[in-house]
Amino acid sequence: MNSFEESLAYLNGIRKWEPDIGLILGTGLGGLADEIDIIESIPYSDIPNFPVSTVESHRGRLLFGLLEGKKVVVMQGRFHYYEGYSLEQVVHPVRVMIKMGINNLFISNAAGGLNPEQEISDLMIIEDHINLLPGNPLIGKNHTDLGPRFPDMSQAYNKDLIAKALEFSSEISVGIHKGVYAAVQGPMLETPAEYKYIRVIGADAVGMSTIPEVIAAVHMGLQGIFAVSVITDLGVEGKIKKVTVEEVLEAAAVAEPQLTKLMKLMAKSL
Ligand code: HPA
Repeated sequence: MNSFEESLAYLNGIRKWEPDIGLILGTGLGGLADEIDIIESIPYSDIPNFPVSTVESHRGRLLFGLLEGKKVVVMQGRFHYYEGYSLEQVVHPVRVMIKMGINNLFISNAAGGLNPEQEISDLMIIEDHINLLPGNPLIGKNHTDLGPRFPDMSQAYNKDLIAKALEFSSEISVGIHKGVYAAVQGPMLETPAEYKYIRVIGADAVGMSTIPEVIAAVHMGLQGIFAVSVITDLGVEGKIKKVTVEEVLEAAAVAEPQLTKLMKLMAKSL
């Protein structure tokens, strides 16, 4: 058995059905776990080959449950490259969730806003991305059982799901934008010159996650990818100031009920 199959075999012994939606609860979506009728809650440390999260603000558990009556598998806590994992380790749980049969993957993250129209605690629906990480999860021998050597990335983020989310925006009480997300290595936030650079090359927000998982999911042919950034600080010229992790978490907490509402509406609509 390879490492995915070992994780999968363990989880197949626990789960009672095939999940339809995979959720990665990044910053700003922790509260969504409270909206799920949880059937099983499995610490990552119990699952063979799962990395264990080192960031204190992320809890490391895989949940199976129902959200708006939909069968979901939930990563409560995700892995970041800056924690020292390889990108293959970062995407391992996503590959396992896709192997379990999910058709949709909903992701959230915290990001610095680069578009002058954004305010702190706004949401940005990701329509495209720029990978500025120093690598990607597909480097090395291709896992031909998972997907092709040269996956197409022209339609990574599902257009129908984006359109649906924008239709729901009138029900959401924080600003909602659509834009391009860039991922950097971190863990430091950017200098003003770096924010400017990332804006100039075409990004509307910058963070330290999500893109590896999206690349791995596209590689495996997953169609239903939907990702949202919570804008927790501003990298806009003239608005850049010193930011603490507490301020980032506070900004995410303000947006959290709204992002939770949006994700519930999205799940219900499937
Ligand atoms: N830069 C990178 N990652 C982030 C930021 C940022 O400004 N805010 C939250 N995550």
